[in-house]
Formats: sequence, C-alpha cells, structure tokens
Amino acid sequence: MGARMTIALHDPLDRPLRDLRISVTDRCNLRCAYCMPKQIFGRGYKFLDRGEMLTFEEIERLARLFVRLGVRKIRLTGGEPLLRTDLPELVGRLGALPLDLAMTSNGLLLAKHAKKLASAGLGRVTVSLDALDDATFSLNNGVGARAQAILDGIDAAAAAGLTPVKINMVVRRGINEHCVLPMARRFRGTPHVFRLIEFMDVGRTNGWRFADVVPARELVEMIDRELPLEPIAPAYRGEVARRWRYRDGRGEIGVIASVTEPFCGDCTRVRLSSNGKLYTCLFASTGTDLKRWLRDGVSDATIVAHLRGLWSRRADRYSEKRAISTGGGQGIEMSYIGG
Ligand code: GTP
Ligand code: 5AD
Ligand code: SF4
Ligand code: SF4
Repeated sequence: MGARMTIALHDPLDRPLRDLRISVTDRCNLRCAYCMPKQIFGRGYKFLDRGEMLTFEEIERLARLFVRLGVRKIRLTGGEPLLRTDLPELVGRLGALPLDLAMTSNGLLLAKHAKKLASAGLGRVTVSLDALDDATFSLNNGVGARAQAILDGIDAAAAAGLTPVKINMVVRRGINEHCVLPMARRFRGTPHVFRLIEFMDVGRTNGWRFADVVPARELVEMIDRELPLEPIAPAYRGEVARRWRYRDGRGEIGVIASVTEPFCGDCTRVRLSSNGKLYTCLFASTGTDLKRWLRDGVSDATIVAHLRGLWSRRADRYSEKRAISTGGGQGIEMSYIGG
C-alpha cells in the first residue's frame, strides 16, 4: 500500500482536502423560504432527471478516490437526502470506507428510516429545525409541516445511535429570531448540539439581504443573558461552528457565522452535486463535470490526477471576500449544491 498511502493534499492557501459533501438529490419535501421558496420551486420547476444523477456505483467510486486524496468525512445532503430511493444502500457502500459518515436532513422522514440508516453504517445526523411553534415553523417550511414530526425524527435518530444529533436553526431577522431562546431551552440538558446559523446569500432565489442576518454575536448574547455560556475549543480543525457550553454543564451549542465571521481560512470542503459536478466552494458558480469523466471511461488514476490538480489550484474564499452590504447571491442554489 505504501505508494497508495495518503499524501495530504493542500491547496495554495495551505488547506488540506478533508471533507466531501455529497448532494444525493436536488429535490426536497419542504420549501423553506431561505432555501427553496415555493414561489420559485413550484410545480413548473425543472428538477434533475433520474438519468442525470450519479448512480450509487458512481458515487461510491468517486468516494473511494476522494478517500485516497485524504477525505476523512463524507456528509450526505440534498435537497432532502431521504428522498433518494434506497438511500440505505448508498450508506452501506460508503459505510465500508474509513470515514466519519454523516447526513444533514430535514428530519421529516427520519422516524421511518433512522434504524435502517444506522444499521447500514451511517454514523450521525444533523437535523434542520427553524422553530418549535407551528405558526412559525409551518410558514417557514412552506408546506405546513409540523415541528413535532421533526422532533420525532430527532428522537428516532438518537434512539438509533446516530449521535451526537445536531440541530441546525437558520435564523432570520424578524422571522424566527424570537424562537432562538425557546429552541435553546428545549435542547439544553439533552445530548443534542443546538446550532444557530446565520442566513447566507446562497443562490439567487432567497432574496437575501444583509439586514435579514442576525449576527452570531447577537445570537450568543441573547442566549447567554438567560443561560450563561462560555466558549470551548473546536472539535477539529476547520469546524464551521464555534462552540459554546452552558456554564452549568447542561450541554453545548454551536454558532455558524459564515457572514459576520467567515471561516474560509480553514475550509477543507469539496462538494459533489447530484448530477456529478464538483465544486470547491459553496458559492462557486462553475463546477467540474466528474460524471462526464466517469461515463467516458476515464481511469481512476487519471481522475485522481485531475482532482489533485484541481485542489492544488483552489483559491476560493468567497465568504471572506463577500462585500457585506452588496450580497445578493451567486449562481448555484443550496438545494442543488448541498449546503
Ligand atoms: P459537522 O461539523 O461535521 O457536524 O458538519 P457541518 O456543520 O459542517 O455541516 P452542516 O451540514 O450541518 O452545515 C451547517 C451549516 O454550515 C449549513 O448552513 C452549511 O451550509 C454551512 N456550511 C457548511 N460548510 C460550509 C462552508 O464550507 N462554507 C460556508 N459558507 N458554509 C458552510
Ligand atoms: N443560509 C444558511 N443556512 C442555510 N441552509 C439552507 N439554506 C441556507 C441559507 N441560505 C441550511 C439548512 C441545513 C444546512 C445544510 O444548510 O437549514 O441545515
Ligand atoms: Fe429542503 Fe433543507 Fe432546503 Fe429546507 S433547507 S428546503 S429542508 S433542502
Ligand atoms: Fe469554504 Fe467557500 Fe465556504 Fe469559504 S465560502 S468556507 S471557501 S465553501
């Protein structure tokens, strides 16, 4: 194996390639206003066709090549990954690799699938939940889904051992900022990690304005005033969330401040869309068509060489360069590139 051993691959900003985020479908059963506003993602919206999407064999082959290049974490995303038929089969294939295998899901179908996913080899899940009260949550998710269904999904995931379960809340000014404290209270004292996310300017459809962002500092202060917090060290290099713990020992939270405190300097992530394009930044406007290589019969060795070249030229740091007052979205939608 000597020659095959991973030689850490670094980009020109000295960032290793460590994480691969794989979007397994661009479809979703929710229509969160900040991600897939229902006015745009309606009946007429053209999602990818089945044949355009990578097969599980293709995803597995690429995952193996990325492991050779140093990837140690794979996160399945979407859209909603549980809408991809037979997802546990893919999990089984990837679960055999030496990886931290995680999934980000909206939780709606998790109660049904958690056990199967865990036995197939999924390590943990992160569940998106933006409010506990149904008035806010239903309005926000665009289809009237109830928070209880997501809470049931979270319980099922925890019971199946998909832990630690992380809960992602995207906070928007005037929309759900009043839900921050109720959410913090709800998850404090549980083993789950509650994470607050600044609303980001991904895509062109969510009408992002800087004024809608509630800065991380404000979010932490809001919680700290009632439930005192202290900072803790990152769990690993390049972690997107800044961690805090409750001073009384009743758990931890995370804050993802991509807008006000960008973390590009340590960005070790690459993204694969469900139609097989590779993006070296969440905000990239063009990707590399890996599906074409796979279907044209390009060899593993050649693909690995291309990927090395790609990473060794990578200079992305969108969030750090973002002109804060302009904002307004790059080309690619979150549901397509996978968050
Ligand atoms: P773990 O630390 O492994 O638990 O996962 P994660 O926090 O990286 O993944 P998750 O899917 O939960 O993402 C949390 C939030 O961070 C989402 O809003 C993502 O869009 C955002 N995010 C993740 N990676 C990046 C990134 O590279 N750049 C930016 N700007 N945002 C990111
Ligand atoms: N800004 C911040 N986070 C977002 N997500 C989706 N769209 C946005 C946005 N515009 C979150 C989802 C999910 C994660 C993958 O990204 O809520 O938890
Ligand atoms: Fe679906 Fe997640 Fe986007 Fe909401 S944030 S529309 S659950 S992909
Ligand atoms: Fe990485 Fe791009 Fe996000 Fe910066 S904006 S952390 S480079 S994905």
